[in-house]
Amino acid sequence: MPNDATPLDAPEQITFPPYLVNDRLRTFIRETVELTRPAAVVFCDGSLAEYDRLCQDLVDRGTFLRLNPLLRPRSFLARSDPGDVARVEDRTYICTTDPLDAGPTNNWVEPEQMRQTLRGLFRGCMRGRTLYVVPFSMGPLDSPLAQLGVELTDSAYVADGMRLMTRMGREVVEALGHDGAFVPCLHSVGAPLARGEPDVAWPCNADDKYIVHFPEDPSIWSYGSGYGGNALLGKKCLALRIASVLGRREGWLAEHMLILGVEAPDGHKSFVAAAFPSACGKTNFAMLIPPQRLSDWKVTTIGDDIAWIKPGPDGRLRAINPEFGFFGVAPGTSLRSNPNAMAMLASDCIFTNVALTPDGDVWWEDMTETPPPALLDWRGEPWTPDSGRKAAHPNARFTLPLQRSACLDPRWDDPAGVPIDAFIFGGRRSDMMPLVVEAEGWTEGVYLAATLGSETTAAATAKVGQVRRDPFAMLPFCGYHMGDYFAHWLRQREGLAQVPRIFGVNWFRKDPTGRFLWPGYRENLRVLAWIVDRCRNRAQGSNGPLGVEPRYEDLCWDGLEEVTPAQFEQMMDIDREAWLAEVAAHGELFAQLGARLPEELASRRVALRTALTAAPAHWVPGDA
Ligand code: GTP
Ligand code: SPV
Ligand code: MN
Repeated sequence: MPNDATPLDAPEQITFPPYLVNDRLRTFIRETVELTRPAAVVFCDGSLAEYDRLCQDLVDRGTFLRLNPLLRPRSFLARSDPGDVARVEDRTYICTTDPLDAGPTNNWVEPEQMRQTLRGLFRGCMRGRTLYVVPFSMGPLDSPLAQLGVELTDSAYVADGMRLMTRMGREVVEALGHDGAFVPCLHSVGAPLARGEPDVAWPCNADDKYIVHFPEDPSIWSYGSGYGGNALLGKKCLALRIASVLGRREGWLAEHMLILGVEAPDGHKSFVAAAFPSACGKTNFAMLIPPQRLSDWKVTTIGDDIAWIKPGPDGRLRAINPEFGFFGVAPGTSLRSNPNAMAMLASDCIFTNVALTPDGDVWWEDMTETPPPALLDWRGEPWTPDSGRKAAHPNARFTLPLQRSACLDPRWDDPAGVPIDAFIFGGRRSDMMPLVVEAEGWTEGVYLAATLGSETTAAATAKVGQVRRDPFAMLPFCGYHMGDYFAHWLRQREGLAQVPRIFGVNWFRKDPTGRFLWPGYRENLRVLAWIVDRCRNRAQGSNGPLGVEPRYEDLCWDGLEEVTPAQFEQMMDIDREAWLAEVAAHGELFAQLGARLPEELASRRVALRTALTAAPAHWVPGDA
């Protein structure tokens, strides 16, 4: 038991800290103790001393391995249970009275029935464990957009992660006062301990996992998993699924988007928000370092995963990052692909499911060109380069505060948010999707986002590499009916003094031999530069069936002359037959949404089909 914990035999024995005066919070804690029967309770204050204590406690219990302090100071490695490595989309529920409010893209169970199931699972589920009370704010505490939550969890790993990923601690409870509102978030790994039973390094429940949202309360119950978005409930559960419902009611947007600032050589600053599905490049794009020959451009990070966006008093859409940290994909991160990330990972970081070097440092696929000769893999088993399996789990992650990044935007913490000039939507598509296209207008842009398709990744436990529709990169995160969500987006344009432009991108198109056509990573700045220049009416393009695409001469190629105009055409080519099949697939998504599909999008689909039918078999920018 941690030395700051109060032992408990009954809910009456809880001694609340004097600053915790909120009646609803006291009741939430008492009822949870009564239901789940933890052995002790800790009220997290968010201090560094507390964080250090939690880390040491996790080391003592075998969840954390302290990395070599000379190579990776104040950093830890956690190895999860092999059955608990990613979000569980098939175990994620939106429980509304009317199933139509959850919509056909969410799992639904009648709320009272689900409450009964959950009460059964949670009864006594924290026996032998410590309950951590984790008060947190999504967004700067003084922002009109901020939402407060309190997570009650029996995982010290989660309490620790919440301190890095959210604004966590005593100030939040003080801000709640006597009657302030918060979202109650209840989390258990679902692994009670009998008296004297030794704990395992990564407790979780192999049989039952439930990630449940009650948007009408609103409240969140999560059972059985300790990993990422399943367990750090401020992130996907509150900041996306619950917040999307609040946003719809109150006229704002909660999106799976990075936010970046980009400064042009003439000093003009733009802000861009971009939605790519999980593990499709948000973190990389958000902290991009421009290529050498374009080093008079500058990119700064505001967020890498979630954006809350609301019209400001100036009639512009303003965005904040509700998070306080990065929970980023480790594999693929290298000095070549993301030097900014490599620099910030040098210390003060929690790594989960990466490999361990013999000298106590971390490694993952592509971190270095030549893998080390011997490692312990993410399960802790001996690994060599010829062992034929991955050393790090493909969804291995790093956790650390935003402030560790050297490219953080000066306005990252601005309670008013930053004004958005452009939205970008991108998926992982090995064919047909051009490198970049600008939608003609808002409706066309909403259509482009609504029909986004992407190959699935290891960020969720399902088959990897299959194209699925992932509207707005929000398929797993929209807390209500997808058709209503599209309508909400269409409405956002109303009353704006400046309507952001909407673009589609694809870094992942491949040639017939399976190689990426576009070098990606820092070279993506060339596309970003075209995008912000389009917003300033300073860049040319060519009108095609999907929208406006740059011609070869419209992008800057300085330092990237190895990409020939012929290769560029391959990346931009619109294949009519493939696109007609794609538009048919859009129709399948639309049919699923039934009467709640906005008429404007149905019409746009017809117009797109007509434009494609009239297009040549292959269209490339510059063609008439
Ligand atoms: P979540 O945190 O899961 O929401 O994902 P994310 O979108 O932040 O993912 P991240 O940036 O961590 O994406 C990681 C994966 O995308 C790695 O496999 C990278 O190698 C790959 N990636 C990122 N940028 C590029 C790019 O420009 N080109 C190519 N080919 N791959 C990229
Ligand atoms: C994602 O899967 O989109 C993530 C990681 O950002 S998690 O927080 O686990 O959902
Ligand atoms: Mn994400």
